[in-house]
Amino acid sequence: MSVYRLLQFTDPHLFADRAGEMRGVRTLDTLMATISTAQQQHFPADAVLVSGDIAQDESRGAYRLFRECFASLGLPVFCLPGNHDAPAYMQELLTEDPFYYCGSITLGDWLIPMLNTNNPGDAGGMLEKDELDGLSRLLAASRDKNVLICMHHHPISSGSRWLDTVPLRNAAELWAIVEQYSNVRCMLWGHVHQAYESRQNGMLLLATPSTCRQFLPEVHYFALDEDSPPAYRWLDLHPDGTIVSAIKWCGTKETS
Ligand SMILES: [Fe+2]
Repeated sequence: MSVYRLLQFTDPHLFADRAGEMRGVRTLDTLMATISTAQQQHFPADAVLVSGDIAQDESRGAYRLFRECFASLGLPVFCLPGNHDAPAYMQELLTEDPFYYCGSITLGDWLIPMLNTNNPGDAGGMLEKDELDGLSRLLAASRDKNVLICMHHHPISSGSRWLDTVPLRNAAELWAIVEQYSNVRCMLWGHVHQAYESRQNGMLLLATPSTCRQFLPEVHYFALDEDSPPAYRWLDLHPDGTIVSAIKWCGTKETS
């Protein structure tokens, strides 16, 4: 019976230009720093999850740069789109081994649906009917699996008024499906550029900070969190359905 280790990197916001900056940091540099820390501290791992906002400028070049960053790790890299992404470019450039776009992952007793919440023209998210129907069918056929659902947008209130104007807009439809299955152990997302952890009816709810800049939690209006560095999350999936997970702040503190 194996324990599977996942590494989640989210919201790298890369540009085609290697020197591209978002809010004062070179996003390629901060992503590379998080990958390097993960290689030193949380390898070996079984897979990488990337939960959206890979590109900031919706360019093919940003996705090519992303491939460069992850291609040599020797791990499968499972990707889904965020609101800043160009899903058509992701399907063009991130569908050859070791890169995978959406769909679902099976690791032993674990099933990981990678949901597409991209809603063109909207910073908020939406699960289209096909996506919801596909998830329903998958869960109905997978009652013997432990399930971890990964997506970009937050399916619960973030606690910040401004972020809650751009959530997963039809989260209620997702919850109506998920609540039928006690084997859904966790929902995991990005988008909010901050750490979050809670439990709801035994289900673990996790948000992960960005590999670049973080947002200040629990504020009404947008503000950067100047004290929190780039980060990633590691997760150990146990065969009994337990998840052990923590955020690794790059070069500093670790929180569970
Ligand atoms: Fe983002």
